[in-house]
Amino acid sequence: MDGMWADLLPVGRDGATGGYRRHAWTPADLACREWFAAEAARRGLDLVVDRNGNQWAWWGDPDADGPGVVAGSHLDSVPDGGAYDGPLGVVSAFAALDRLRDRGLVPGRPLAVASFTDEEGARFGIACAGSRLLTGALDADRARNLTDSDGTTLADAMRSAGHDPTHLGRDDETLRRVGTLVELHVEQGRALVDVGAPVGVASTIWPHGRWLLDLAGEANHAGTTRLEDRDDPMLRLAAAVLAAREAAIEHGAVATIGRVAVAPNGTNAIPSRVRAWLDARGAVEADVRAVVAEVAAAAAVDAVEESWTAEVAFDATLRDRLTGLLGGVPVLATAAGHDAGILAAAGVEAAMLFVRNPTGVSHSPAEHAEVDDCHAGVDALATVLAHLTAARP
Ligand code: GLV
Ligand code: MN
Ligand code: MN
Repeated sequence: MDGMWADLLPVGRDGATGGYRRHAWTPADLACREWFAAEAARRGLDLVVDRNGNQWAWWGDPDADGPGVVAGSHLDSVPDGGAYDGPLGVVSAFAALDRLRDRGLVPGRPLAVASFTDEEGARFGIACAGSRLLTGALDADRARNLTDSDGTTLADAMRSAGHDPTHLGRDDETLRRVGTLVELHVEQGRALVDVGAPVGVASTIWPHGRWLLDLAGEANHAGTTRLEDRDDPMLRLAAAVLAAREAAIEHGAVATIGRVAVAPNGTNAIPSRVRAWLDARGAVEADVRAVVAEVAAAAAVDAVEESWTAEVAFDATLRDRLTGLLGGVPVLATAAGHDAGILAAAGVEAAMLFVRNPTGVSHSPAEHAEVDDCHAGVDALATVLAHLTAARP
């Protein structure tokens, strides 16, 4: 495990902040993909890159002997992200597979390690793009035409990175191979700290989504334009930010405006346009929708939905089986989106394991998991994988 981390840790790391910028189809992302391919090759696993760019490293033949069991997560990051969100699940999956081999286990079903493409949506705006494309939850044409902040389309970015975007979209051949998916992930909260447990199992994912507020104004001089003559969209952004907090409190939800694009972005110019992205989540869909409506009203603009993920309830039978197998570990809901949730919503049997995060901080360079807890996660994942691959379903 140490060697895998040592190779992966410098990739896409910002020297100034210590955070990661591993955005889809950038050189840092490609280096992560090469890392994955090298780990697969080192173990003699069969590397498959599916039509949507997701990577799979198979031990056994999922077409002849499947469906198989898959463990994995993602390697991309948010802007200035932590080291563990995503990579912990992929590194732990390889380490758990090694552990099974060291024990001489011969699985009764094929077993794979997976890395899903563009889980964070940091560059093109849609989270879990690889798994949404795989299941058909994201339309292929829409995906190809998504643009990054420089105006590069996803299709062009993929092409430049050597991946043909022509065949994006629902991929039944790949889905058929996946009998069960288990995603191990660093916890993005303090629930496991509070109960003093290194590992937990997921119950549900809150409904959540992303909306664009596109605020038009009139560019003008910051000094010579009288206040009453201004059409300044920044004021409507300010109203939206405050409304997001107030509405979230009122409806028991969370809401964040963490990304804005200001044009022309000059100190001495009133903006001509402000675009802001609202992230809203809650235990109850109606509450999330109410928050979005109140923010849109405060900004006097339509909130354009860029993505929506309904509540995910992980398979209760599998969840209870894994919880028992791991000695009655805690069961937690999460407000973070995950590829396992996307596959679960598409009818794939899926489960998640969480590893304790001492501060609960995530999507930040301060994200952390202690080494002993990472080992406990690998132990738990190996136990789960040994159980799930013991016999054909
Ligand atoms: C994924 O990390 C999310 O934003 O929920
Ligand atoms: Mn994340
Ligand atoms: Mn993640």
